[in-house]
Amino acid sequence: MPEVPPNPAPVVVIQWPDGSTTSAPVGSDWLQAAAAAGVVIPTGCLGGSCGACEIDVNGEVLRACIATVPAGDSAVLQVELAVDPYW
Ligand code: FES
Repeated sequence: MPEVPPNPAPVVVIQWPDGSTTSAPVGSDWLQAAAAAGVVIPTGCLGGSCGACEIDVNGEVLRACIATVPAGDSAVLQVELAVDPYW
């Protein structure tokens, strides 16, 4: 009997603040997904306490350093930086 490969993680499409679009597996790290897209998410503590890495994903603010890419209710996850990177 042939071996059945495991199902790959579902992939979601992410639209970044610069207008670019990439895809990432559900459950992947937000900072890695952003880096792969060439998008810099500001960071500070990398532990979930400072809020420097907050992003807005389809209207929900989350901290990118401790959150993972969720399965989207819609086809595209629209990401905006919740914190002004230039302050
Ligand atoms: S870098 Fe501090 S909360 Fe994410």
